[in-house]
Amino acid sequence: MTKPLAGMRVLVTAGPTREYIDPVRYLSNDSSGQMGFRIAAEAAQREAKVTLVHGPVALGTPPGVRAVAVVSAQEMADACRKVWPGCDALVMAAAVADYRPKAAFRTKHKKTGKRLCLALLPTEDILAALACGRRPGQVVIGFALEDRNGRANARSKLCRKKLDAIVLNTPAAIGAKVSEVQLLIAGGKWTRLPTADKSRHAAAIVDVLASLLAKRRAGRNTHR
Ligand code: CTP
Repeated sequence: MTKPLAGMRVLVTAGPTREYIDPVRYLSNDSSGQMGFRIAAEAAQREAKVTLVHGPVALGTPPGVRAVAVVSAQEMADACRKVWPGCDALVMAAAVADYRPKAAFRTKHKKTGKRLCLALLPTEDILAALACGRRPGQVVIGFALEDRNGRANARSKLCRKKLDAIVLNTPAAIGAKVSEVQLLIAGGKWTRLPTADKSRHAAAIVDVLASLLAKRRAGRNTHR
């Protein structure tokens, strides 16, 4: 049986961010946004009020979801910060770029035939910042994309970013319809979900979210 989310306000992020080098070139990744969009759709179906902050993707907004389209990591951080104080939960499925060019060329950069070095600066870790600044009762679920030492790396992200749960997947999930996913709730053990369509995994992740919110309401918090 699916767990309801009536009255809950949920912030979901999805898709890649783009960090522009000049007006026509950027740093980004292959995220399609499918997982985040399905999580948003699933939460909305369970009657949550969902805001979906997403990077550039080729997906339609799910019914009942308020979508906010952004481009860069900075824009995603700003959009999330506006909404987060009024939310009960965050599911951070976006594939945020970790670096941005220190300075972007204002006009299309002409090739010179010579070596070009780009200075990059780290972007803000949006998930860590929102989790760190949360008010008591807010639930935070993050993702970890790992190509090696998956469980150990994901567990350390869960602790470092003070998450309530983390969803571990591999680069094979990027852009794929089917994925392999493992879930860890803070203080608990790993659960490996059967290989399945991303909608199934989205439903399982929203189940975890609903359980965590129910526990919060009952006063049994994991972090606070
Ligand atoms: N994340 C974020 N802001 C960033 C980078 C990542 O909010 N600037 C979030 C992602 O949305 C995801 C989680 O942090 O929920 C983990 O992202 P991942 O790419 O797996 O790891 P990183 O924290 O970027 O670390 P690394 O690339 O070193 O594995």
